[in-house]
Amino acid sequence: MAQTLPNYKNAIFTLFIFLHLLDAQSHQFSRKLSPEPLGFKNQKLTHLHFYFHDTVTGDHPTAFPVARASITNTSSTLFGLVMVVDDPLTVGPELTSKIVGRAQGMYASASLNDIGLLMNLNYVFVEGEYNGSTLSILGSNHVFSKVRELPIVGGSGAFRFARGYALAKTYSFNTTSGDAVVEYNVYVQHY
Ligand SMILES: *[C@@H]1O[C@H](CO)[C@@H](O)[C@H](O)[C@H]1NC(C)=O
Ligand SMILES: *[C@@H]1O[C@H](CO)[C@@H](O)[C@H](O)[C@H]1NC(C)=O
Ligand SMILES: *[C@@H]1O[C@H](CO)[C@@H](O)[C@H](O)[C@H]1NC(C)=O
Repeated sequence: MAQTLPNYKNAIFTLFIFLHLLDAQSHQFSRKLSPEPLGFKNQKLTHLHFYFHDTVTGDHPTAFPVARASITNTSSTLFGLVMVVDDPLTVGPELTSKIVGRAQGMYASASLNDIGLLMNLNYVFVEGEYNGSTLSILGSNHVFSKVRELPIVGGSGAFRFARGYALAKTYSFNTTSGDAVVEYNVYVQHY
């Protein structure tokens, strides 16, 4: 009995120290990690190909103007117009083809001299292994240039640590309705 009591006290003391360390750990602000245990082992390069449908008119628009500047209506470049969109991304050029994701966010007319958009969008995918994963695009889009390059500034899910670029090419543009279909080739590095 006299022998077990100190051991018992030792055990309590050790437990106390352990809990104290655990507590200190939970309040730690930062620490260095190796990437492997979190699954960041091999960087991959993925190519995505899809079509972006920007429908501004008709019965089922997916892009809506939310703000205008004082000069927007008289500006030949619609300067100051801000659109919020939830545009479908499809595997083929037809809107009826399979949806692989949606472009959600906004774009704004940000060039006084030509039609140049600031694109600020999350591409939210629903297809296969990318279901639920997103890519964030922030770039300059001069829509009458043949091919526009937009930076990929980040991502989530399968696209954590994403960086890369998207090449956007107008597939069709209806000058009457303003509706556009844009072909995207995306090259993205991620884990
Ligand atoms: C600009 O045009 C929009 C859409 O046609 C209209 O709703 C708005 O009242 C106009 N704004 C001004 C300041 O004229
Ligand atoms: C994508 O994930 C959602 C939510 O987990 C699920 O409801 C849906 O069926 C999935 N879609 C595909 C195409 O796997
Ligand atoms: C362009 O839009 C107008 C107005 O919505 C529509 O009547 C016309 O059929 C469209 N043209 C094409 C080629 O889709």
